[in-house]
Amino acid sequence: MAANWKMFGAAAQLQVFADALQLDDRVDAVWFPPALYLGAAVAVAPQGLACGVQDIGTSASGAHTGDIAAEMVADVGGSWAIVGHSERRMLHNEGDDLVGTKTAAALRGGLNPIVCVGETAAERDAGHEKIVVQRQLEAVLDRIDHGQLASISIGYEPVWAIGTGVTASPEQAQEMHEFVRQLLSEADAQMAAEIRIVYGGSVKPGNAAQLFAQKDIDGGLVGGASLDAADFTAIINAAAQAR
Ligand code: 13P
Repeated sequence: MAANWKMFGAAAQLQVFADALQLDDRVDAVWFPPALYLGAAVAVAPQGLACGVQDIGTSASGAHTGDIAAEMVADVGGSWAIVGHSERRMLHNEGDDLVGTKTAAALRGGLNPIVCVGETAAERDAGHEKIVVQRQLEAVLDRIDHGQLASISIGYEPVWAIGTGVTASPEQAQEMHEFVRQLLSEADAQMAAEIRIVYGGSVKPGNAAQLFAQKDIDGGLVGGASLDAADFTAIINAAAQAR
């Protein structure tokens, strides 16, 4: 279960969140605070709560002002990176090729990437949701060694469901997750059965159980509700019950 704090939170909130959160050893939990807070989050995270960043640069080091290398994330105790979040794609013009390169960079640095894919409302209205997700996923599969597939997770995040309070129905989400798993199975059937495909987009304590009950939904990438330790704990519990 992933808590993506986006550009929210403050230094004083880290300890409060860490103290209030209740984990379940049946559920892997990862915390993605703003990158500036990563070291502090690692320092206060309870046993069993991994930490990561919401984006990474493509190089291991060099003259890349403002970028953060996957290797540096690992150096301060982070173990995960989100790549290709729709907010990066839209607000920073990150294209499919760059997302693929960032996924490879995360793997090179020893991080577990969560690769985000998902269509906009206009793309879904045009009936293009699968074309878009396939294009996004193939750009990543083209740039990584398929032997590394076991280290990646996929986050299906329909853009129209992010931060809107309108979640995809469990059936809509399941259909897309099944499609993603089928695409992955063309790269490696055995691995595709094991890769985690998590859903993001207005996951809340009230809808988490229905989503996680779907066959191909292996967890959640939670934005707004993850800022509240009680809500995130409830979502972790829903995932534990679904196992
Ligand atoms: P919300 O849960 O706020 O809709 O955000 C989802 C998301 O983008 C997580 O990465």
